Amino acid sequence: MEKNLFIYTFGCQMNVHDSEKIAAVMVNSGYAVVDDVGKADLIIVNTCSIREKAAQKACSQLGRLKKFKNRKPGLIIGVGGCLAQQWGPKFIEKVPYLDLVFGTHNIHNLPDLISAVEKTGLPVVRTDFHEAVKSLDMMAPPENGRVTSYVTIMQGCNNFCSYCVVPNLRGKEDSRLLSDIVKEVAVLAGRGVKEVTLLGQNVNSYGKTIGNGSDFADLLYAIGLIGGIERIRFTTSHPKDLSDRLVRCFSEVDKLCEHIHLPVQTGSDRVLGMMNRCYTRADYFDRVHKLRAVCPDISITSDIIVGFPGETDGDFQATIDMMDKIRFDNLFSFKYSEREGTAATKIGGKVSEYVKRERLKIVQGLQEKHTLERNEAMIGNTEEILVEEISKNSGQDVSGRTRTNKIVNFRGSHELIGKMVSVLITGAYQHSLRGRLLNVN
Ligand code: SAH
Ligand code: SF4
Ligand code: F3S
Repeated sequence: MEKNLFIYTFGCQMNVHDSEKIAAVMVNSGYAVVDDVGKADLIIVNTCSIREKAAQKACSQLGRLKKFKNRKPGLIIGVGGCLAQQWGPKFIEKVPYLDLVFGTHNIHNLPDLISAVEKTGLPVVRTDFHEAVKSLDMMAPPENGRVTSYVTIMQGCNNFCSYCVVPNLRGKEDSRLLSDIVKEVAVLAGRGVKEVTLLGQNVNSYGKTIGNGSDFADLLYAIGLIGGIERIRFTTSHPKDLSDRLVRCFSEVDKLCEHIHLPVQTGSDRVLGMMNRCYTRADYFDRVHKLRAVCPDISITSDIIVGFPGETDGDFQATIDMMDKIRFDNLFSFKYSEREGTAATKIGGKVSEYVKRERLKIVQGLQEKHTLERNEAMIGNTEEILVEEISKNSGQDVSGRTRTNKIVNFRGSHELIGKMVSVLITGAYQHSLRGRLLNVN
């Protein structure tokens, strides 16, 4: 009899895509993915460890699952993702009713690991790293029927930003072959996918580990030629590796959407140095100017950390000044969170929780103003939208994104899903735009 799988996902887009791969591998071994956790025979919690809060969230979710374990003998609970990679066997000590802990490189082993749990009734832990991660070549299950899809182009990270735990948990940077990625995108196009988002911790350094001369720009040109794919997005870009050639892609690759997520982290050169980011404030401004010169309407989003050890009021003001000058379309801002095993744990001058909270409030308040301002400037524009779904707020509306990655809601029904349409922007809010359908392209 078919068994049921339920997955909880925390963390970044990479983890969201990993959950799709977990679903794919388990569907292949006879499981069905369900959306009611009460019906599950197997529950996977795919965790994140980027900040303390992310780790706590995953743990509280596991805490809530204990009652299911008591109620349903034979239920298997597994934990994967970055926190599983970090804690390994310690996870079983902390959460004794766990059956399985698997790391970020072990998704393809899942069916075997689950069989081992079923056979022995004992907890299984598997967190070894592999040179060639097999799950890189795995895709979302075809039946998910979506018009947008993620494609992993590389794994790991070699940057070691001093605050960041990712290189320890995702392993060494390694790129997939360009031909394999192109093949995967062509298969997705055949399934009706119109928009792909290329994923990596630092997509700009794509190709470095292959050593055959292909770089990220080459990959964009190659995917730009695949019939059926109408939009290409990517995330995330490290400012230090944003080449002029890549900037030019925004004008030369028609399908490349006018949006870049370019995390700056701080506007202070001193703090950038301590963070080991390998670029200066001036370098960042230079990249932004180049991007806007090639593509004036490009939407630029970023990440900022406040309260890094040693961050003074002056450093913080440099960040605020940078935000004021650049005016990001959107920003993810975080209080610095100390992570075990990272270099920043050794930096003195810890900033108090109170100061971190105050600085975060200032950044968020300012960004709200900038986001609204940038969104309002779009009123009156005609925008190309790929319709993705029925709107979350109203069953009479559909929702999709502009090429600049802004959500637009407008009157329409489900026949529009998957279509490219023209929409007149009539209203702007903090998190979305309102529009009126002009025509189906
Ligand atoms: N690879 C991506 C970022 C991945 S993590 C990149 O380099 O752009 C996403 C964001 O989380 C980072 O950009 C950073 O702003 C934030 N972050 C990472 N570690 C953090 C920490 N220890 N405390 C607070 N924020 C952190
Ligand atoms: Fe972390 Fe830096 Fe790598 Fe991004 S580039 S994953 S912030 S170490
Ligand atoms: Fe979190 Fe791992 Fe992504 S730590 S942000 S799930 S790479």
